[in-house]
Amino acid sequence: MKRLSIRGLLAGARRTRHAVAAKATTSVPALVALLFFFAAATFSVFSLGSFRWPGAADDGGAAACDAALARGRGEWMRDAGAAPYYTNATCGFIQNYQNCMKHGRPSMEFLRWRWRPGDGGEGCEPLGPFDAARFFRLVRGRSMLFVGDSLASSHVTSLVCALSQVEAPARSRDAAAGFEHWRFPAHGFAVAYFWTPFQVRWRLTRGPPEAVGPERQGEVFAGPSDLHLDEPDERWTSAAKSHDYVVLSASHWFARPAVYYQHGRVVGCHDCGDSNATATAIVKQPEHAQQAAFRAVLGALARLDGFNGTAILRTVAPTHYENGGWFDGGECTATRPASESEDGAAPEMAATEAEFYRAQVEEFAAAAAAAAARNGGKRARLRLMDVTRMMLLRPDGHPDRHGHGGGEHDGFEIDCLHWCLPGAIDVWNDLLLQIIASS
Ligand SMILES: *[C@@H]1O[C@H](CO)[C@@H](O)[C@H](O)[C@H]1NC(C)=O
Ligand SMILES: *[C@@H]1O[C@H](CO)[C@@H](O)[C@H](O)[C@H]1NC(C)=O
Ligand SMILES: *[C@@H]1O[C@H](CO)[C@@H](O)[C@H](O)[C@H]1NC(C)=O
Repeated sequence: MKRLSIRGLLAGARRTRHAVAAKATTSVPALVALLFFFAAATFSVFSLGSFRWPGAADDGGAAACDAALARGRGEWMRDAGAAPYYTNATCGFIQNYQNCMKHGRPSMEFLRWRWRPGDGGEGCEPLGPFDAARFFRLVRGRSMLFVGDSLASSHVTSLVCALSQVEAPARSRDAAAGFEHWRFPAHGFAVAYFWTPFQVRWRLTRGPPEAVGPERQGEVFAGPSDLHLDEPDERWTSAAKSHDYVVLSASHWFARPAVYYQHGRVVGCHDCGDSNATATAIVKQPEHAQQAAFRAVLGALARLDGFNGTAILRTVAPTHYENGGWFDGGECTATRPASESEDGAAPEMAATEAEFYRAQVEEFAAAAAAAAARNGGKRARLRLMDVTRMMLLRPDGHPDRHGHGGGEHDGFEIDCLHWCLPGAIDVWNDLLLQIIASS
């Protein structure tokens, strides 16, 4: 699989074949942190390498630690006494594809790491353990909607599992509308999840007949899909107004074959086998499609009448396939986090994922600047939950051979895209708590 240093991504990357986050009906958790609006210009030099951000001090002061957290800087620190926020015995929402404990993962060492924000110094406190009581205090009377693919579902599951240690939620499904709900009545909090792998309107145009119905589209890895890059999927945007937080993400599905539309007209395609269309395309690469989709969705949230909540964009969580891809025997057998090299460079990242990351950060910055200019931040607020580097350092966090079991999803017998639960992405809830506490 072609890989590229994150630092090299500004030099231009080629696309990579890659896995797709499958449909999953449930899951939870959350994310991230950060405290400032970045000007778009700042991002023109952004990389996951050792770039120093203006104003980021190394003195370990609280502001410096918050800044490092917001930028995803830090390291995984071993803590032999760390306990998972929940287990497969204390949370019943963990789905098979994430249930590494049930599927015989040989060691629980991957749960003994905590994220310590910082820029190489040792001054910052590691995150966690997750304070569910504090989280509940902050969100009393509020609700949170997660929209995205199966990784968003995993985040939901992680959050609901962590919170369920304090109050067991009531779970319900609105199958017709496609929403799943968890309610915590004693704490006045509710979580909803909607599966939308591209955030914008889309339609699978080819696949097994039984898979093409609207409710089953995500279960096939066939394609292509028609993607309407300028039309937010209104099945969830229409619901967004009734939530105080909307946690958005979308990445891996954009690597699939697709025909791109804008203003109802074809503007390009990816892996579509039509060389004429490719030659004249306006939108040629998955990351450009993704950037256009995020622009449409963030713009819609900012304009949405009645939405005065906070929109939180979670960045791409990298895959870790080695010796092949998801479709041909790639695996991820690491048993501990990766560390940075001496010069502060993070490990390499798949080229397409690095491009997705860049597109997300740029689009977030542009939307945040536009929102601030428009109305003094009175309406929708935007926050970035930057998990990319943190997750890039966790090749040991995926199910590998201890996920699906029984060939439940074709192509994912070895899974280096999703994450074990409990596991590395539980830290996303700590990040989410930080964001909520500071918004
Ligand atoms: C939880 O994991 C253990 C192994 O750690 C396994 O024996 C048990 O069956 C699992 N339980 C559930 C409910 O998945
Ligand atoms: C591409 O365009 C040429 C010339 O117009 C045409 O002959 C050919 O059939 C087209 N190919 C496809 C795949 O549409
Ligand atoms: C948004 O703000 C308006 C005016 O302040 C308020 O009436 C409305 O209830 C708020 N909506 C939400 C979802 O909080």
